[in-house]
Amino acid sequence: MNKILVIGSGLAGLSAAVKSAELEQEVILAAPSPSERSQSVMAMGGINAALNTKGQNDSIEEHYKDTIAGGNGLNDPSAVKKLTLDAPKILKWLDSLGTSFTRDENGSIDLRYFGGQKKMRTAYAGARTGKQLVTALVTECRKYEAQNKITRMNGWRMLSLILTEAKECAGAILLNEITNEIKAINSDVVIMATGGPNKVFGKTTGSCQCDGSATGSAFLQGVELGNPEMVQYHPTTISTPIKRMLITEAARGQGGRLFTFKNGKPWYFMEEWYPEMGALMPRDVVSRSIYKVCNEMNLGINNKNEVYLDITHLPKDLILTKLDEVVDVCMKYLELNPTKKPIPVYPGVHYFMGGIRTNANHNTNIPRLFAAGECSCQYHGANRLGGNSTLGAIHGGIISAIEASKLNKISTSEQSTASKKCLLNELEIYSKWKNEKYNDKLSLKKIQNSIQEIMVKSMGIYRKKEDLEKADTELLKLYKESLSVGKQGTYYECRSIPNTILVARAMIKGALSRKESRGAHQRLDYTSKDDKNFKKTTCVTYENKNIMVKFKNLI
Ligand code: FUM
Repeated sequence: MNKILVIGSGLAGLSAAVKSAELEQEVILAAPSPSERSQSVMAMGGINAALNTKGQNDSIEEHYKDTIAGGNGLNDPSAVKKLTLDAPKILKWLDSLGTSFTRDENGSIDLRYFGGQKKMRTAYAGARTGKQLVTALVTECRKYEAQNKITRMNGWRMLSLILTEAKECAGAILLNEITNEIKAINSDVVIMATGGPNKVFGKTTGSCQCDGSATGSAFLQGVELGNPEMVQYHPTTISTPIKRMLITEAARGQGGRLFTFKNGKPWYFMEEWYPEMGALMPRDVVSRSIYKVCNEMNLGINNKNEVYLDITHLPKDLILTKLDEVVDVCMKYLELNPTKKPIPVYPGVHYFMGGIRTNANHNTNIPRLFAAGECSCQYHGANRLGGNSTLGAIHGGIISAIEASKLNKISTSEQSTASKKCLLNELEIYSKWKNEKYNDKLSLKKIQNSIQEIMVKSMGIYRKKEDLEKADTELLKLYKESLSVGKQGTYYECRSIPNTILVARAMIKGALSRKESRGAHQRLDYTSKDDKNFKKTTCVTYENKNIMVKFKNLI
């Protein structure tokens, strides 16, 4: 029996923990907050599987083809094959756990259209799919917790990995965010499921609790990142004072239309430009189209960067049952009733296709370290299809658990030596911080805001060399400052901020090096796709205090 440390308890972490327990492994599930507060509960629209219950001749092959086309050919084909093949089994498993999927008139799991997919393939639970999936998996997890097969550590963040002399992962050093207790958790395997680095951009549709610090720390210790420049802008988000709120793609999947006014009349630009799929083109295409309408044609609603998403023509009972959360979000944040008025929307940062690079078995370049979910670079290539993130997270968690259970146990003497050394190192860093004075010349808050401003400016829907180079210089300066901010904020805030900046710099370096336009990465100075040089994975590593970028063939 192996001891598996799972870090992060959203969909990827939960499925890794549950599968590991099912395989009779000993599991520690550590996360900053309970699963019910994880980023995964924010997923609205659904989860994909070629169930083919709508008489449309859907198949695993079709799901595979749409995923690769949506990802602009940058996905790992072997991993996508496995993902799409396993999807129907995963759906059946989730159903058996009691996920309250919306049903059709025959009592089967209902399916709807989603972006970039030619068939109805997205299973859903109203517009609260993430909450329902998490609830089902939490219930399953609790059964194992009651049997002491899974031990939860709530309130804990990863500070660093425990690496042996032979550079094997032997556990992780965790910090209790409230008490500042620091612990070494030894394990035979670590599965990182720590989410995407939303805090790097600040105003995203995701949670800033996912700050990228664990990824940054692993990167600093030699973990390779893949395609960090691939940042997805979701076409339909709304502005609120603290973040962007998602208006689910399901609104378009159920028949919602995008329009603006041209010559005083409603103009359904997606339907004119892309008659076959209209507003359900892949997200990168829809986002660029909205950008063009607002920024190049100056046709934004009321001269603002906004177009309308209209669902007023849909039956009210459909909206209230299948798009319930859309109504709640609009009422709460815009005081607007979407059954009566169109919703003003604009693209916002939604998802990170890049992250810790893994192979199809979710191994990273460090033995005994796996990564799954949004912290990993797997499945989605240059642009993810809606409904493939929940699927990819659960699949990644399961695959990591299966592979982890096949490994032999780690040598305990090497582990214990490494663990003591790493713990001592972290305790020293903490003690230095504790004895530091408040540095009133620097402001943690200002550094955090600056990172976000720099990233929003340079890593938009379109990018260019000068902006990226300037961003890198500014981030490097902030990185140096962040190492000596002193005792501002909590220990975790101070300890994590340099890691977050490292992740931001890896994104910038990836974007600078990828001299082409593909999917979510569009360069104003390299406007076309260059398969010969760049149908490859951007591989970013940290070596001798430098960020290095190489392009490697797809696995
Ligand atoms: O629009 C949405 O509901 C988002 C779904 C997804 O990102 O998979």
